[in-house]
Amino acid sequence: MALNVVIMAAGKGTRMKSALPKVLHKLAGAPLLAHVMDAAARTGADRTVIITGHGAEAVEAAFADRGAVFVRQMPQLGTGHAVQQAVPALGDEGTTLILNGDVPLIRAETCAALVQACGGQALALLTIELADATGYGRIVRESASGVASAAAGAAVRAIVEHKDATPAQREIREIYTGIMAAPTALLKRWVMALKNENAQKEYYLTDIVAMAVAEGVPVVARAAASETEVAGVNSPVQLAELERRFQVQQAHMLMEAGVRLADPARFDQRGELACGSDVEIDVGCIFEGSVQIGDGARIGAHCVIRDAHIEAGAVIHPFTHIEGARVGAGALIGPYARLRPGAALGAEVHIGNFVEVKNSTLARGAKANHLAYLGDATVGERVNYGAGSITANYDGANKHRTVIGNDVHVGSNCVLVAPVTLGDGATIGGGSTISKDAPAGQLTVARARQASIAGWTRPKKPAKA
Ligand code: UD1
Ligand code: MG
Repeated sequence: MALNVVIMAAGKGTRMKSALPKVLHKLAGAPLLAHVMDAAARTGADRTVIITGHGAEAVEAAFADRGAVFVRQMPQLGTGHAVQQAVPALGDEGTTLILNGDVPLIRAETCAALVQACGGQALALLTIELADATGYGRIVRESASGVASAAAGAAVRAIVEHKDATPAQREIREIYTGIMAAPTALLKRWVMALKNENAQKEYYLTDIVAMAVAEGVPVVARAAASETEVAGVNSPVQLAELERRFQVQQAHMLMEAGVRLADPARFDQRGELACGSDVEIDVGCIFEGSVQIGDGARIGAHCVIRDAHIEAGAVIHPFTHIEGARVGAGALIGPYARLRPGAALGAEVHIGNFVEVKNSTLARGAKANHLAYLGDATVGERVNYGAGSITANYDGANKHRTVIGNDVHVGSNCVLVAPVTLGDGATIGGGSTISKDAPAGQLTVARARQASIAGWTRPKKPAKA
């Protein structure tokens, strides 16, 4: 059966106190709306309609390539008015699921269960019981006596918004989460018939519940699995709280799969992280994009790792930054190393403190242990690249390659002016500036010779008057 998803994202988000539209604020590295769109996609949405309003241009631009239909709601006259704008973009069949752009952790399983409960026949509401229901729409049920009450399991009669609720209704703890699934044709007819005769002079989507009841259409309430999955983001504090809850969830999933996190409260995953067995991750690490870590690899404290592949048994020491790089099996990296995009390190490579590697391949067993730069270089096996040595790969306009053969020994503080090739087994004397190819197996030295000048005296300051 066809599934439409309508995501409401027109609200201003005043309490964020930000120029950025609320749904573009990020949770775990992705905009709030991206999380909701992912849930919609995983639920099997055939068509996704996003209602935009405040900051519409920015929201539409951010999601232009995701195949959703955007419908603008100007001005914003309430949630029912928002869905009215989507009506022309919906077909006539199947089920329509309504989600909120600022409720990022809704699970696809919950959405699927709600869609199933609707089945194209019933109005299915996602609800939850809260200790403090202030501000929310209350689920009003019918008691055996026919008087509206909160008796669990009794038929749902209506949703009453907090501002319109009687003192007795305000006692109800069961609230509407803002998420529902409805038969598309009925939803379209109902929202077009809404009136705004209420405390806020808004078109309430929630008024369709009483319409369904009046028409004898079944109304079912399904409970959300947790408060977290239906929590909305309205302020920076709420955003940070939800971020932390989400991170703890991710941390627990990893630990249940056997990853040893030193502290799940000090762990941040902003994307996909796939770990082999016996992986250890110390505190304060951030993983972004898509990261794979092989069996037995260890990640030290406070590393930032983005879009990287770290092979089995590698050790990443603390404070290392890795982005767009590959680290071979058993390699030792850091502390304080920086691997930039295109760094591809073979097995057993050692990269030490304050070493930067960019767009370079290092073959098995190559070492650059201190204060060095390798950019646009091809480095052979077992090379030893001395402290303070750099590739001068950029002439101000173009990048050039440095090729270093197997078993080359580059002394300390060398400048390799690319393009240049060092043959297999070459040794480069410390302090050399190498601008011509160095032959294999020979010592090449390119620096001014040391001289001592007898009788030289230091300049003296003139005597003070
Ligand atoms: C709504 C529900 C309430 C429920 C609560 C859950 C209604 C009338 N009430 O109340 O029963 O308990 O959510 O959080 O639906 N939006 C638009 N256009 C508008 C108004 C809102 O796109 O004209 C969007 C907002 O950006 C937001 C969502 O709809 O994502 C909900 O709007 P909000 O104003 O927060 O509704 P509540 O009054 O909280
Ligand atoms: Mg709200």
